[in-house]
Amino acid sequence: MKSGNLIIINAAQLVTCSGNTAKKGAAMKDLGIIENGALVIEDGIITRAGSTETVMADIDKSHYEVVDAAGKAVLPGFVDSHTHFVFGGYRAEEFSWRLRGDDYMDIMNRGGGILSTVRATREATTEELYNSGYQRLTAMLANGVTTVEGKSGYGLDAATELKQLEVMQAIDQAHPVDVVPTYMGAHAVAPEYKDRGGDMIEAIIQQALPLVKEGNLAVFCDIFTEKNVFSIEESRRLLTAAGEMGFKLKMHADEIIPLGGAELAAEVGAVSADHLLQASDEGIRQMASKDVVATLLPGTAFSLREKYARARDMIEAGCAVALASDFNPGSCHTESIPLIIALATLYMGMTPEETITALTINGAAALDMADTIGSLDVGKKGDVIILKDPSYHFLAYHIGVNVVERVIKKGRLVMD
Ligand code: NIG
Ligand code: FE
Repeated sequence: MKSGNLIIINAAQLVTCSGNTAKKGAAMKDLGIIENGALVIEDGIITRAGSTETVMADIDKSHYEVVDAAGKAVLPGFVDSHTHFVFGGYRAEEFSWRLRGDDYMDIMNRGGGILSTVRATREATTEELYNSGYQRLTAMLANGVTTVEGKSGYGLDAATELKQLEVMQAIDQAHPVDVVPTYMGAHAVAPEYKDRGGDMIEAIIQQALPLVKEGNLAVFCDIFTEKNVFSIEESRRLLTAAGEMGFKLKMHADEIIPLGGAELAAEVGAVSADHLLQASDEGIRQMASKDVVATLLPGTAFSLREKYARARDMIEAGCAVALASDFNPGSCHTESIPLIIALATLYMGMTPEETITALTINGAAALDMADTIGSLDVGKKGDVIILKDPSYHFLAYHIGVNVVERVIKKGRLVMD
């Protein structure tokens, strides 16, 4: 994607979310708002941010595309730091089974759930995965998302995992939205390794991980640490080996059954631990002290009808909380940022300010990218959203509705 030169002027609110690291605890309230703000982007990078009067004092407008944001709030693009957007097939019928009362993990344990998407993804062609993935990213962009993390994990075998990661790499090159790839070969125990999860972890360490590294196909390594999936010991083994190979680490931790996933994330130095519906007080304390970003996925709790993660306890314990969609074909089939905002504010007790921090600078921190994206600071990428409305409060107040009017990616208008 080419980058551009662009100026935004007269913004009713420039919501900078300023900072180069995750905002922890009480700091999540601070949105760094500039009234009647302006922003200058040169060659895709923010070079000035401030009041329109000061920023425009010595600028020659003729070199830039000029966007007048009078009566509009301007924010950093959202960072959706946890998604599974490349997959084959759909699980619409399974959703109806769950509405009828079937349990998510029971469906998986009898060969459906994630394993049903594994079969469809193994069968899908590269082109099919590319086209559907590209369209999903476009839907996310319309929600104001400018960076997306994407996980493999619907192949489980090395060949299909590499296929998923290569598709993500190709989409990243072609689509305005940036894609940060995560290898998640340990998303479920593959049928070939039924009841031998430990052997599957060894095979991943010996065979798949080196191939992913060699091809430079993933930044992160992630694992589903859950009862009847991968144990704490198996997770420790994989994450330690992946860390030694230079991968950054993530975990699907303490989602359904409390296993001590949050504690393990702190122990292995994971960048984030995600889900955390069942995280213990001790796990929360350790995440705060080891700077593990707590990535909460309320869409999944909503869709599975589980209780929500304890966002307030985490913020009060001094954690950096991020919010993400967890868009996937099973447990949470939505890329809706307005839904995530509604659930965080109305059901998890997060304030609008904390919610916006969680979707911007803290989402960036969950990808270890808080120094380059996630806020409107000089030196960062010019990834910006302009709302239809004059203040950020409308993001929560206009319930379930997308109030993003325009999206700018690296200084170019990509949705208008
Ligand atoms: O983050 N919990 C495990 N993995 C995904 C669900 C994937 C699926 O159901 O296809 C999650 O919720
Ligand atoms: Fe997930």
